[in-house]
Amino acid sequence: MLTRFGDIADLSLAAIPREPLRPTEVRVRVAVAGLNPVDWQIVESPELASAFGLDVPMGYGNDFSGTIVEVGPAVRSRQVGDRVFGGARGRAAASTITLDEEHPGLHRTPTGVSDLQAGVLDIAGRTASAVVDALAARRGETTLVGAAGGGVGSILTQLLVREGIEVLGSGSPASFDFIRSLGARPVPYGDDLTASVRAEGVVLAAAADLHGTATAEAAVLLGVPPRRVVTIEAEHPPTGTVQVNGSDAQPGALDRLLALVVNGELQIPVAATYSLDRFREAIAVQRSRHVRGKIALVLTESDCG
Ligand SMILES: NC(=O)c1ccc[n+]([C@@H]2O[C@H](COP(=O)([O-])OP(=O)(O)OC[C@H]3O[C@@H](n4cnc5c(N)ncnc54)[C@H](OP(=O)(O)O)[C@@H]3O)[C@@H](O)[C@H]2O)c1
Repeated sequence: MLTRFGDIADLSLAAIPREPLRPTEVRVRVAVAGLNPVDWQIVESPELASAFGLDVPMGYGNDFSGTIVEVGPAVRSRQVGDRVFGGARGRAAASTITLDEEHPGLHRTPTGVSDLQAGVLDIAGRTASAVVDALAARRGETTLVGAAGGGVGSILTQLLVREGIEVLGSGSPASFDFIRSLGARPVPYGDDLTASVRAEGVVLAAAADLHGTATAEAAVLLGVPPRRVVTIEAEHPPTGTVQVNGSDAQPGALDRLLALVVNGELQIPVAATYSLDRFREAIAVQRSRHVRGKIALVLTESDCG
């Protein structure tokens, strides 16, 4: 529970009275709450919270997976026992959450997909899908991905590679093996990014910058047309580049990603999991901005009180 904006120290565990369901609502027992940078950015910024329609007092997190444990009397499309996942902005890190049965962030978890895979997917998966669409990269083209090993980057990189796109993925040297495991060629981010890309001897066709603007600037400098350069978190992106958000993902994008997971064509890398009582530690690790893949809170029966 967050009662004032500030920092993670202001976040605490609280017992919330369980409200009766509205007629078309379902109650989900949360199994996994995946963490994203925007979660702690909201804690630190009332302006960002407001942009998402949030204000204190509020909960924490967005991504979740779990099981429906109760349905309202008018619910038609869901039933108790359904495994579900998705996004509930500002309240996913809780023992239970309530959502309307038609909530756009409520999806069925397919057989063959674990709660852990589904519970970290919502923001990173939608964003990676939207970036793929915006890049419109073709087989054989080389694309530079800045922060290829992060939550968004680890999914985006695999999606591009499976389409036959050559990916140069930036990371710290400590992440190079991980970036290689995603199918990309690693290059170090930092002041020498442009030189490092040149040293690879490739012609860049497109770029996705998932960490500020340095990758986007390098790509433009290297001759990539700005309309083929995509950013997701830039306040002042280079002129003519394309800003993409997770909300730009096509309907059904997450279901298509999970179909790839079921077929073994996509991994959803999770760097570490934490119990709910270790939420501050989990958020601190995620906030370090050096996570490979995702970080998740895993809830147990005892968290439900
Ligand atoms: N617009 C949207 O809808 C949207 C959606 C999702 C995310 N975002 C934003 O996009 C950003 C990425 O999200 P995410 O979930 O992928 O974050 P993340 O998981 O925290 O990203 C971590 C990655 O960033 C890399 N990194 C750290 N410093 C870097 C630098 N200076 N240059 C390049 N890479 C660096 C790290 O590599 P090393 O570990 O090797 O250092 C690590 O792999 C966040 O700021 C997030 O808020 C926006």
